[in-house]
Amino acid sequence: MLSYSPPPNSLHDRIVLITGASDGIGKAVATAAAAHGATVILHGRNVRKLEGVYDSIVQAGGPRPSILPLDFEKAGPAEYEQLVAAIDKEFGRLDVLLHNAGMLGERAPIEHYDVAKWMRTLHVNVNAPFILTRSCMALLKRSQDPSIVFTSSGVVAQPRAFWGAYLVSKWASEGLMRMLADELEVAPAMRVNSINPGKVRTNMRLQAYPAEDRSKLAAPESIVTPYLYLFGPDSRGVSGETFDCQ
Ligand SMILES: NC(=O)c1ccc[n+]([C@@H]2O[C@H](COP(=O)([O-])OP(=O)(O)OC[C@H]3O[C@@H](n4cnc5c(N)ncnc54)[C@H](OP(=O)(O)O)[C@@H]3O)[C@@H](O)[C@H]2O)c1
Repeated sequence: MLSYSPPPNSLHDRIVLITGASDGIGKAVATAAAAHGATVILHGRNVRKLEGVYDSIVQAGGPRPSILPLDFEKAGPAEYEQLVAAIDKEFGRLDVLLHNAGMLGERAPIEHYDVAKWMRTLHVNVNAPFILTRSCMALLKRSQDPSIVFTSSGVVAQPRAFWGAYLVSKWASEGLMRMLADELEVAPAMRVNSINPGKVRTNMRLQAYPAEDRSKLAAPESIVTPYLYLFGPDSRGVSGETFDCQ
């Protein structure tokens, strides 16, 4: 996988929705996908940051992206319906759905874990991907080659103390990915996988490890290859798997 090298125009004509595309890994993946020909739909909650990603993609000569703001903490069914209607109106289908947006929540022992923060973290990291997947299913079914990608974490392979709702959310997300891959086995055209980015130099990592030497961490731009692989035609038939970026 790490030796995979996507052909220059491997994502030509692919409509790719990336959640959390305003920063960190999502921003780097959106930029790389557009550089390989994808039309990216940039989701996030901060329009100013999303416009910055939009501008840099256009300036680099990539296909003109779309911006879809939605705060997963606050969104209700009507907002998800509006998001799907906007994609339907502009593109009529969806080829790739990347669930990348996430929050760290609190790092604390279970005994002292703030209940409201626990619920918010699970809502953003698990409920939102579930609702979005369910909402986008009809659009994905209109694609010739649909691919859904979830975001995993090292805490799935190695559970550890004090990671609270984040750890539980990543286990749930991995379970959702595997269940969905199994459900869609009858329709093998739709593949569902997940990616564990490893240690990446982003705001979330800084929040988790404020004292570490950040120069040793991978830059978001350096870990995009597995994403491009799962977005494009070379991963056809691959489903129910978790890929490590590092
Ligand atoms: N960095 C790592 O070392 C690492 C390791 C393993 C897994 N991951 C996973 O990789 C994914 C991306 O993380 P990252 O490190 O790139 O984090 P990041 O730089 O903090 O970016 C997180 C993204 O999610 C968005 N987001 C957060 N809460 C949201 C909400 N309520 N509604 C809508 N969007 C929301 C953020 O939007 P704003 O710009 O508005 O905040 C941002 O675009 C996450 O799923 C994370 O768990 C990261």
